[in-house]
Amino acid sequence: MPHATDTPVTSPKILPFYKAIPRLAKDPVTELARMGVEARGQIVRLDLGPFRPYLISHPDHVEQVLKTDWTNFVRAGMFWRPLHRVTGQSILAEGEAWASARKILQPLFTPKYINSLAEDMADVVAGCMPELDEHARTGRLIDGGGHQMTAIVNEAVMKLLFGGRIPRETVDLLQPEIATCATSIHFRLLFPFTPYSIKVPGDRAFLRAVKKIDEIIYSLIEENSRAEASPAAEPRKEIISALLTARKAQDGTVDVRQVRDDLVSMYGASSETTAMSLAWLWSVLHDHPDVDAKLRDEIDRVVGGGPVRPHHVAQMPYLRMVLQELIRVYPSAWIIPRQTVADTEIGGVRIKAGSQVLVSPYTTHRLPQFWERPLEFDPERWAGEKHQLRHRYSFIPFGTGPHVCLGQHLFYIEASLVIANVMSRYRQVLTNPQKLTPVPGASVRPRESLWLRLEPRDRDARA
Ligand code: HEM
Repeated sequence: MPHATDTPVTSPKILPFYKAIPRLAKDPVTELARMGVEARGQIVRLDLGPFRPYLISHPDHVEQVLKTDWTNFVRAGMFWRPLHRVTGQSILAEGEAWASARKILQPLFTPKYINSLAEDMADVVAGCMPELDEHARTGRLIDGGGHQMTAIVNEAVMKLLFGGRIPRETVDLLQPEIATCATSIHFRLLFPFTPYSIKVPGDRAFLRAVKKIDEIIYSLIEENSRAEASPAAEPRKEIISALLTARKAQDGTVDVRQVRDDLVSMYGASSETTAMSLAWLWSVLHDHPDVDAKLRDEIDRVVGGGPVRPHHVAQMPYLRMVLQELIRVYPSAWIIPRQTVADTEIGGVRIKAGSQVLVSPYTTHRLPQFWERPLEFDPERWAGEKHQLRHRYSFIPFGTGPHVCLGQHLFYIEASLVIANVMSRYRQVLTNPQKLTPVPGASVRPRESLWLRLEPRDRDARA
């Protein structure tokens, strides 16, 4: 279904191979966004040799691909083909497998349901603070972009998926394997059409990590099934319980492969995206001391010196504005790839069946016709009602349409709990400020490590 845009065009701007490759080789995320911005959001065709995807960034086109015409743009080819090797047939797939998973999982992600789990999540996040206290006490630096933030987010995600039934050691075993999957998949993400019969860099590490993930997840499923089957079992809220109940056949047997796919997909969708969004925060706060001060004031006023509880989150509108601006400037889902099923037309451009289109939130969020001073980090643009006047599909960090992210509400709660806990306890000092380079991957992350020193807040005479 074609849509009107401000400048109708009939052929895409084509970026030839000799221009596209050198630009993308240097800093692919920034350059891809520049290409879309230079074309004023019109469709750009990238000539990458055998791979010639269309870059989609205009909000009208985003709406068409992800929402109005979504059945013609499926999760196949680039990104998805290698990803499905680990996530299997589940919520991150298409068709019947996706629809049945979405039906089971959607009721678990309503704000009401997530709020009912938020107290537990607040305990988990607070429970991670003693480890940071230790760093603050000894002066040992933390990696603000990597390990520590990921570890806190993972603990909270694990609680949501498995409740209290998963020991800390298991979380610690799972985390590096998932990280290995996310990084060793790189080559396959970039060259999606290389046959699996040809071994490429990262394959061996990837397959070894998938095997370990399977061992851990299958044993958790078995343990949980046993606990659920016990006559003394209480009804439980975590996702694994809902899956075990929903995936039970009439004869009482459970399709464990399906539950495994569901759990791995949920873990993948929730932990990296959230942790990598937080990874940018400390550098942004360093560069914007005014934002840091205003945020800290709000956290102090609402939380005081006590523990951070879920009811505090709703009382911190500035924190919400900072998070919105963070995922505008650094949307961790930087591209949302699709493959066309039938010949189609977007913004007057004819696109053949089987083509790859890359919806790019990172680009859409930088289009000057929809965002004033798009490269500036300015939480104030989210103040009051005025941001509601912008184009509805100009802000798409969570996608849109039937595949829209299930975890939006969870993200705002979880990220707020982490930030409020850290900032109410410590003053974070970035010891190696520098310009960050976004690195492409399943989630966009800074290439550089961010070393933070945490200074306990009692030092700044918080009277
Ligand atoms: C900053 C954090 C997050 C970002 C930027 C993000 C982004 C996205 C985006 C862009 C999509 C759409 C993918 C597509 O159209 O193909 C998506 C889907 C999804 N997200 Fe998130 N997400 C985040 C956090 C979470 C969390 C915390 C969860 C929760 C457990 C979650 C669960 C999901 C699921 C299950 C889907 C697939 C939905 C479907 O296909 O029906 N996400 N996410």
